[in-house]
Amino acid sequence: MTDKEKHVFETIYERRSIRKYLEDKQVEKDKIKKLLEAGMAAPSACNLQPWEFIVVYEKDDVALLKAAQFSNNHNATMAIVVCANTKNVPWEGPNWMIDCSAAVENMMLAAAAMELGSLWVGAFHQDVVRNQLNIPENIHVMNIIFFGYPNEKRPVGTRYNEEAIYWSKYDPDRQREMRTMEMLSDPGIKAVEV
Ligand SMILES: Cc1cc2nc3c(=O)[nH]c(=O)nc-3n(C[C@H](O)[C@H](O)[C@H](O)COP(=O)(O)O)c2cc1C
Repeated sequence: MTDKEKHVFETIYERRSIRKYLEDKQVEKDKIKKLLEAGMAAPSACNLQPWEFIVVYEKDDVALLKAAQFSNNHNATMAIVVCANTKNVPWEGPNWMIDCSAAVENMMLAAAAMELGSLWVGAFHQDVVRNQLNIPENIHVMNIIFFGYPNEKRPVGTRYNEEAIYWSKYDPDRQREMRTMEMLSDPGIKAVEV
């Protein structure tokens, strides 16, 4: 494996959702800029780049964002709220979410490479966040990505699962055991030799 491959794969496998953070260590502004640069390197349909990002880093503002979650389950120190402006997107539908998700994954991998933790949060009260951050109705709010310096280590690896792979054609007769909500706490992570 080349050094480049090793770095990329290690970073992919090391990214885990982090919910315990060092509260007295802020993410530096230059690192925030790097996260955003990585996000905006993502592919997007017809290269329309509909994403928009609101950086929330003042302690009280981050606390308000956390309070808008369905369950306040972490102590991250900053957040990037990922939105989309679809003014010039000539099709209907939620395709903007795909573009924004590519940007999110890039930011989370960049975070892992810079020894930052990250947490993708989709369960929050949209109206509360819109109100807090002054987001108008024509702007889509996707998700909140929290960041900070981690204060926990989590197992790293892949969820490689042959049952999820079909070669050449789908096989509707395959009896695949799908994960359920009850399995949330089992990450299903397997270590990989890089
Ligand atoms: C679209 C999306 C929404 C998520 N929303 C939440 C959330 O609201 N709260 C939370 O604690 N984790 C949330 N997560 C994190 C997942 O629980 C986590 O990615 C999953 O359990 C796999 O663990 P890992 O990220 O450590 O690999 C979300 C992840 C995604 C991709």
